[in-house]
Amino acid sequence: MPAISPRDRLIVALDCPTAPAARELIERLGGAVNFYKVGLELVMNGGLDLARELARSGKQVFLDMKLLDIGNTVERATRSAAETGAMFLTVHGHDLKTLRAAAAGKAGTGLKILAVTVLTNLDAGDLAEQGIAATPEDLVLRRARLAREAGCDGVVTSGQEAQRVRAAVGPAMTIVTPGIRLPGSAAGDQARVATPDSAIAAGADYLVVGRPITGANDPVLAAETFVQSIATAMTRRT
Ligand code: C5P
Repeated sequence: MPAISPRDRLIVALDCPTAPAARELIERLGGAVNFYKVGLELVMNGGLDLARELARSGKQVFLDMKLLDIGNTVERATRSAAETGAMFLTVHGHDLKTLRAAAAGKAGTGLKILAVTVLTNLDAGDLAEQGIAATPEDLVLRRARLAREAGCDGVVTSGQEAQRVRAAVGPAMTIVTPGIRLPGSAAGDQARVATPDSAIAAGADYLVVGRPITGANDPVLAAETFVQSIATAMTRRT
């Protein structure tokens, strides 16, 4: 497998209210960014057409749809998602039925399935509310193992858990890490943040960055700073 360049490891979250706003940002970022994440907010407002457009133009696309439904629906939705030309699709990693349905839906396509283990806004109290006695970290590891068993390609996890997840699932699973901040910058509403350096050192393959780039005065400069910092961290890792 060819090595992934530091620029291709940076995924910019297009958390924009409309497709025209997202298009403006993409145009501004130009060649500085090769990989975009389209999430639920944008998909409600032209995001799927934009995802297709991006894929056709040679950009890589992450559809962050966090699917969770009966197997038949997840499998068919996954097959349709593959037709957009996206590279990654997320499903909730709660159970083997959902994960196996997504793995079946992507069969024969270029789509890769990422399991969302435990949402980063949930703590032990939220899990207890659902009748789950495990700590968030133990549940992350349990669900990461389920994702591997079901034939998924990777997991989404915070940089703080990436090292234990890597140890649990081995080198073949892709680890994608959101909640990335440069040292000293604002965390916003993210509770479990990591720097690009620490996330890459912990074994992350891709970093998802939203506001630190999309809300910067100079988004191109911000993107280049992240790419540089991924490049430096990769050099230390090898
Ligand atoms: O702006 P910021 O860098 O915090 O954006 C992070 C992106 O990653 C958002 O699109 C958010 O929905 C997404 N995400 C996350 N935590 C997860 C999964 C996805 O922050 N566990």
